[in-house]
Parts: sequence; structure tokens; C-alpha cells
Amino acid sequence: MCGIVGYIGSKSVVGILTEGLRKLEYRGYDSSGIAINADNEIKIYKAEGKLQNLVDLLQGHVKETQSAKAGIGHIRWATHGAPTEVNAHPHTCSCGKLVIVHNGIIENFKELKEDLIKQGCVFRSQTDTETVAHLIAQEYNKTKDLTQAVRLATKKIQGAYALGVMHQDFPNVLVATKRNAPLLIGVGEGEFFIASDVPAIIEHTKKALYLNDDEIITLTNEKMTLIDGDNKELNPKIEILPWEPVALSKMGFKHFMLKEIHEQPDVIRNILSGKLYNTDEPISLKEVQLTKETLKNLNRIQIIACGTSMHAAMVGKYLIEDFCGIAVDVEASSEYIYRKTVTDKNTLVIGVSQSGETADTITAIKQSKAKGSHVLIITNRPDSTMAREADSLVPINAGIEVSVAATKSYIAQLISFYLLALYMAEVKGSLDNATLTEIKKELVVLPQKVEMILAHKEQIQKCAKIFSTTKDFIYIARGINFATALEGALKLKEISYINATGYPAGELKHGPIAMLDETMPVLSILMHGKVYEKILSNAEEAKARNAKMIALTNSDDKKLEELFDFIIKVPEVNEILSPVIAMIPLQLLAYYIAEFLGKDVDQPRNLAKSVTVE
Ligand code: F6R
Repeated sequence: MCGIVGYIGSKSVVGILTEGLRKLEYRGYDSSGIAINADNEIKIYKAEGKLQNLVDLLQGHVKETQSAKAGIGHIRWATHGAPTEVNAHPHTCSCGKLVIVHNGIIENFKELKEDLIKQGCVFRSQTDTETVAHLIAQEYNKTKDLTQAVRLATKKIQGAYALGVMHQDFPNVLVATKRNAPLLIGVGEGEFFIASDVPAIIEHTKKALYLNDDEIITLTNEKMTLIDGDNKELNPKIEILPWEPVALSKMGFKHFMLKEIHEQPDVIRNILSGKLYNTDEPISLKEVQLTKETLKNLNRIQIIACGTSMHAAMVGKYLIEDFCGIAVDVEASSEYIYRKTVTDKNTLVIGVSQSGETADTITAIKQSKAKGSHVLIITNRPDSTMAREADSLVPINAGIEVSVAATKSYIAQLISFYLLALYMAEVKGSLDNATLTEIKKELVVLPQKVEMILAHKEQIQKCAKIFSTTKDFIYIARGINFATALEGALKLKEISYINATGYPAGELKHGPIAMLDETMPVLSILMHGKVYEKILSNAEEAKARNAKMIALTNSDDKKLEELFDFIIKVPEVNEILSPVIAMIPLQLLAYYIAEFLGKDVDQPRNLAKSVTVE
């Protein structure tokens, strides 16, 4: 959450900062601000709301800002204090000479703030961040050394932070540091950048240095100096980023979400290529280090993830248990980290994360690693913190996902779980060859089936129009598609703000059925397989309570027309692969309802794409 960008060099800084922030908009978008050194004076510009408001504000200040060659910028996702201009970063100390931008949460800010107020510090905002500005300023007043002030002040902080710091006394110096939050330093010719993520700097340089926790970097336009928390000078290890600058274009689609939904057939092809060469050959997962011996000794698997990634994990559990006969638990990372988990060297811990930077999941995998578990990460960001912590890696190669609501990354995570479960079954010898080959053959033809759904999206548009005025929505399913019901409901909630809930269909009669009447749409995920008839019976129960009935099905059964008010038809598919096929119409349904209601589809209220606070 929140994005930081900074620059020091010989180019005009304002455009670099605002363009960098635009690339970080996925991290938050409730306010933004920059601080620049303009003619040896620190100037601050902030705006509430979308980044465009800051850009518009800066248009009126071109003359006074154009000579500036150093600055820091921030895009906010509010944690402490409302998303107002006064709470927008950068924040300053009492005298206004020291400015900082911050991503993270200062957990002990209350105690620190009380103490600082007693010492005469004047607070202007409700943020936890401002405490850090005062703390650093206090240390600076003692040492007159900005780097040391940052080092000593951050020793007093508990929590997570990535910080960019400037001071009026040294307007040509940038200091940056981090703990439990991502920060990288871009290295150009006579210029340096700081950024929360690669897209903010990749247009300018491919050379970068990932800061480790508690390291402090001091940048001028000539050099960088790196120290650790004990003031020991370190040799910066510069890497070449495996990234190409990407033009973030909607390619003619109205929203990134719709474009990303349409990219899914190619996303599936991409993941399969290089991993599933031929249906008669074993799956190849080059970065997975699970030997037959490790698999034989596993007593259990724990999959930890948040939100959409946790729904993919639920499908993963089903697959691994089905194909490999190993017990799997799925847990929200935020729950996992605050209890005594039974994890040891014979537990495989799988972390699933689109961004690879979700704070709760990072903490969870660090805890499991400390207990000796093998950690396998499924992520869209092989350069992320999680990927760097991993013993084994499955990169999902979905390409950059701009829309806050995850779509193609979810499908890519599902495909990764199919590949991983098959791979494990092959290493373990737990599935017969005929079944293995059949599933592989089905996987290969999935992209065409997804294309068929996309080609008939009008049926879903029609359904969206009919149900767009509903206040509540229920999704029911069983077995492997229970996760699909949860994910379908989450998509709708996120972008249309309609109260939507997914239930195991058999649970309806244990409580939720009380809510049903003619105002409540119930969408049944009715795919051929083990639980088809069971869900049909549960749908009958809902129909008997006058609910509005929608079927998402691959069945041609004429009887369904009597039971359902609306039928969304999808291609036939093996039940085990049906979560992929069933999810596409649910993504489109959520999209078209939100679009019909005129919502901000790509940047829904209160959300951010990368949740880097616990
Ligand atoms: C929903 C969504 C979120 C994320 C969750 C975890 O559309 O995107 O629920 O899935 O915040 O994020 P990652 O996968 O980056 O760990």
C-alpha cells in the first residue's frame, strides 16, 4: 500500500515523480504529494483524491518547479487519518525543513507521538508517518547528519516502513531506508531513483539495488553510500532488472479489467508453454526443488494467502489432495501468523500471491521458514520479496495486472496449481498415466474454451443488466467450485459494492436460506460431475423460497429452463478443470454490473492492489 518514488540527478524532477507515481497508482489512490528542492528550498505540493488532481495542481506551478532536480513523491492508501490533503504525504517536522514519504505502518506511533508532543513537537496531521518526521528531525538536531539521524530514529520505530527523506540543509541529498516494506534504488548515469516497485523506474534504468531491512542509502547525483543499521559501510549489489518498460495501454478496451479478462486465453498458453511440452511427458517446473524424498516425508501442506489468492489456494488444496493424497490446509495469512502453527521440516508451506509483497503472507512464510519448512511461492512477481524468500518458485507469468480486481492472475494461479499438483503426483507416482494424460489434454484445450466464453459475452451482459439493481447476491456451489463461488462474490463486492456472498450449496439450509425471497438472486454453479445433482437439489430449495434463480452451467438439460430465470451457458469441461471455465463468466458478470452502475471499475473505492501493511 502507498507508493514512494524519489529522484536525484540532472533532469527536471516533477515529471519523473508524477509519472513514477502514475505507475504506482495500483498501490493506492486516495491522495498524493511531492516535495522538491526548488532553488535550494524544499517545496511541497499535495492533493486529495486521484493523482490527476496533483498533476493539475502542478500545472499551475510550472515556473517555480521546473528547475528542481531532486524530490520525493508519494501516493497514499490511508491507514491512519482520513484521505485528506493534510494527511497526504510528504510530511514535515515542526520547523518544516525535513520532509519524508512513508509506506507502511508505525505500530508504536502513539507512544512516540505522546513523547514528542511533550517535547514541544507540533503535529499537523493524524498520520503515523508524521511521528517519523519529528523523530528524525530530533536526531538531526543533535547530529547535523541526515543519514545518522535516519539510522538512529528508525531504531526507535516498530512496524513496517519504506522511507524517503530530504532536508532543507542538504537539498541535494536523498536518504532512504526500509524494514518489512519493499524499496529499490534505481541506478542511472549521474542520477538515482528510489521506488516502491519496478514500474516506477524501469523507463529510466534497468540497474537497481534492492534494499535489505535496516539498510540506509544516501544518494547525491554523483554517488550512493550504503550502510547497515550498525553504521557499517556496505558494498551495494547492483542487479539488472529482468523487466522491459511496458506501455500500460487499455488496447481499446474500456477498462484494464476487461482487457485483462480477455488476455486470459494467452495467459494460460503462456504458463503451459515450457512446463507442459507434451501430454505424454512429465511436467517441468524448473524452479521447484521438491525431490521424491522430500515429498515422501511430507506430513502435510499448508497453503497461505489472502483474498483472491486464497481462493486459488482452495482449488489447489482440492487438487493436491485429489492427485497426491497429501493433507492440505488453507489459511488466510493474517490468521496464520497470530496462532501457534504446527509446522516443521516435514511441512511444505505454499505461499500464493499475485504481488509477492502482501505483508501478512510475507510474515507467514518467514515464520514457517524459521521452523524449517520448505517454502514454495506461487507469484506473478519473480523479483518480489516472497520470491526471494522462496526455496521453490512457480512464476505465474500473467504479465502486469493493472486492474485492482484480480482476474488473469487468479486464472494463472489456478493453472499453476494444476501444474504443481500434477508435477507432485508424477514425482510421487500417485496418479495413473491415463488420468495424468487426460488432465493434461484438457489443460491444453482450456484456452479455446475460455475464448468461446469471451465470444459469447452478450449473454452475461444481458444477465448483468437484469440484476444490476439488486442489493444482495448469493453464489452457491459445491466441491472444487466452492472457491469459485467465493471468488465470484468477491469480484462483485469489490467493484460494484453489492453485498455478495458465496456459500457451499449444502450450507444454504443451515441458515442463509432465511434470507431468500423474490428480491434475492441465487447464482448456482452447476457443472457436470460428482456434485451436479446435489447442487440441483439445493437450487430447487432456493427456488421454493421464490429466489431469483441464475444457473452457470455446462448442461443442456431442458429441465433447467423451468428452474432458472437466467442460464449462463459455458462449454463442457472435465469437472476437475471447471473452476477455470466457471470463473470467466463470473468475472464478466461482476464487470458488466459495475460498468452498468457507472463504478470506477479499475480503481474501486477503499482498495489497493498491493497490501503491504498487516
Ligand atoms: C481481489 C484481490 C485481493 C488480493 C489480495 C492478495 O481482487 O486482488 O483480494 O488477492 O489482496 O494479494 P496478493 O495476491 O498480491 O498477495
